[in-house]
Amino acid sequence: MTHRRWPRWSELAPLLRPRAVPIDATARRLAHVASIRDLRLLARRRAPRAVFDYTDGGAGDEISLRRSRAAYARVEFRPRVLQDVSCIDATTTILGSPAALPLVFAPTGFTRMMHTDGESAVGRVAERIGIPIALSTMGTTSIERLAIEASGARRWFQLYLWRDRAASSDLVARAQAAGYEALVLTVDTPVPGNRLRDVRNGLTLPPSLSVKTFAEGALHARWWFDLMTTEPLEFASLNRFDGTVADLAAQVFDPALTMRDLAWLRETWTGPLVVKGIMGVGDARAVVDAGADALVVSNHGGRQLDRAPTPLEQLPAVVDAVGDRAEVYVDGGILTGGDVVAAIASGARAALVGRAYLYGLMAGGERGVAKAAEILAKEIAGTLALLGVTRVADLRPEHVLLRPDVD
Ligand SMILES: Cc1cc2nc3c(=O)[nH]c(=O)nc-3n(C[C@H](O)[C@H](O)[C@H](O)COP(=O)(O)O)c2cc1C
Repeated sequence: MTHRRWPRWSELAPLLRPRAVPIDATARRLAHVASIRDLRLLARRRAPRAVFDYTDGGAGDEISLRRSRAAYARVEFRPRVLQDVSCIDATTTILGSPAALPLVFAPTGFTRMMHTDGESAVGRVAERIGIPIALSTMGTTSIERLAIEASGARRWFQLYLWRDRAASSDLVARAQAAGYEALVLTVDTPVPGNRLRDVRNGLTLPPSLSVKTFAEGALHARWWFDLMTTEPLEFASLNRFDGTVADLAAQVFDPALTMRDLAWLRETWTGPLVVKGIMGVGDARAVVDAGADALVVSNHGGRQLDRAPTPLEQLPAVVDAVGDRAEVYVDGGILTGGDVVAAIASGARAALVGRAYLYGLMAGGERGVAKAAEILAKEIAGTLALLGVTRVADLRPEHVLLRPDVD
């Protein structure tokens, strides 16, 4: 028999303490976000359908994309207990310079379409937290502008070698003059991937006002208002272009690219050279032989070849093949700090994230990107502590096991 009594006021008062509710709507929305997946849901509500789908989607049946994420769900951590984890050090070095986290903001095109603050917002967050950011050739902020907006950030420039080599040389020279630290050559785009969501949505750049998008505009008035009242959405490195994303990519990408072009670039660019889009051991060895200082095991976030190899699964063999001749990074499907820890334990020096920060950007501009970074940083530190590891540098393959199936 339970004996009941009236609670005393002194017991009730502490429970009734109201939580401060931010006045600003973005701050209010972000206050309820606990994970990158929450940011994704918020992004889906905030951005027009075609913009969200362009970011969220992959190529073909999106098998590569799903497998990349599923691989992280297969990870089983092997923790040690009683290890004194009162002090966690998540810092590392990337290309020989310090980074606050083993993380890089991946190059993404059309970033101002997700939110008009675009690459500048991403660059400022990268600078504040102390990680590199790679600006895309398809970026919507110029090489020089980003150098001003994020002057203290470690800035890398991602290059698509165009058919027009003189234009490519010009971009490389501009990146060098503007103090970019590294050049990232993306090699998994001989032709554009088949992005069915973009085809179905009729995505064009800049976004066009069709009857459908106009009706959608009523639902995403804030996004359209930002778009119409800020600098026009244009490519910062390309001449003015009106057309579909696939048209543009087909014009810029060069299907005739070979290892010889990589050797040419190696002679042109004197700083660190990162090759992005390696999916196997043979190519890894070849690009390192051609002078790459680092490579990214990547299938472009599942946006190019559908059914491509899964980056996390390829990583250990590539690390083995390359040894200490080059740094190896990985990307694709990373949505939590635990995923980052799993990637590092599997041999990567750093992980790149694309969508994780883009969801934040769509959800709340610069504050959304900061929220994404904060979530990942907290999860990295938390996972290290629960694993019984105090330093990123101490992560080893023994800390992870890839289970045969996703449960
Ligand atoms: C919207 C979007 C645009 C992208 N644009 C580029 C690009 O211009 N150049 C490039 O090398 N990679 C590009 N990527 C690929 C990313 O650099 C990265 O490889 C990928 O996003 C990693 O997967 P994740 O999004 O699951 O983190 C893009 C990815 C997304 C999502």
